[in-house]
Amino acid sequence: MSDFANIVIHWQQQHGRHDLPWQNTRDPYAIWVSEIMLQQTQVSAVIGYYRKFMQRFPDIRSLAAADEDAVLQHWSGLGYYSRARNLHSAAQIIMDAHDGRFPAHFEDIVKLPGIGRSTAAAIASFAFDQPQPILDGNVKRVFARHFLIEGWPGLPKVEKQLWQLAETLMPQTGMVAYTQGLMDLGATLCTRSQPKCSDCPLLQSCGAFATNRVKALPAPKPRKAIPEKSVTMLLLLDGDQILLEKRPSSGIWGGLWSLPEITQGTDAINHVRERFGIEAELLQPMPMLKHAFTHFRLHITPQPMRVAGHAAAAHQTASVWLNRADASGAALPTPVRTLLNNLPEYR
Ligand code: ADE
Ligand code: SF4
Repeated sequence: MSDFANIVIHWQQQHGRHDLPWQNTRDPYAIWVSEIMLQQTQVSAVIGYYRKFMQRFPDIRSLAAADEDAVLQHWSGLGYYSRARNLHSAAQIIMDAHDGRFPAHFEDIVKLPGIGRSTAAAIASFAFDQPQPILDGNVKRVFARHFLIEGWPGLPKVEKQLWQLAETLMPQTGMVAYTQGLMDLGATLCTRSQPKCSDCPLLQSCGAFATNRVKALPAPKPRKAIPEKSVTMLLLLDGDQILLEKRPSSGIWGGLWSLPEITQGTDAINHVRERFGIEAELLQPMPMLKHAFTHFRLHITPQPMRVAGHAAAAHQTASVWLNRADASGAALPTPVRTLLNNLPEYR
């Protein structure tokens, strides 16, 4: 037996949970109902529902014979109601296809509606002491930490590695204590936040603990692609001078000196006429620039323009004409500094 399995089994026997209402039975129906309820719901929320459900539907026959409404009624408040509908229709399948007896073989269990590989394995282990590895969210976390499995466990290739580990580690005997021990470890010690490593029987061999990566594993679900925003920045050139604008104190680049911005597609010539009272013509475009913020990426289209004439009244307190040397000494956002450094010599 792997050292890992040995440790988990011994720990479960001494420190695991032994008095949950679905333990200390080999009745596959009772175990099945509990595993379905526990799929997406915490133990503490399940216990009351479980007792009432088992009172009302004590066996496969009574569940199969019930109205769907009655089944759903007893599920009301637990959520994820497809679990109840699948439970009901699986009970009817067992009546028809298995003579009313819960199937004892993993291959038959896993075919029933609402029962995936890990749930089928839990039932096979608890009810029939069969060696079948479980891999629910808690167990994935324990494995990812202990064996330093990188990547989000929802990724197929990561999940495949985890299943392979689960198969390799599994003992051939003592499946009840081993399976319950993995669940108990994940639920009581190797928790998502603030795991109690100092109480953990796996501390000596735990890769994440040894390398200080407990917090980082398992890797979180990759965040959605960062949104992209596009903007056109105007480089208004008058001889050696360029027009800068002070940005509002709040928001990105708050208080820095930046270039006037227009949304893409706006007519630049009209815009500067109306906003600054300036007649200007378009110059050769410059290459696009990308800038990454924490929450979005900015695509900057620089638009250089040559000023033909200022209206006298166009003076604005939030904008300033600076020569290039002075501009490069100002508090500029990084991409604006890049643009000024790369500004061609227009003639
Ligand atoms: N979660 C899933 N199955 C469980 C079980 N048998 N005991 C405790 N929590 C569980
Ligand atoms: Fe989880 Fe900590 Fe135990 Fe490692 S030592 S398995 S991180 S509880």
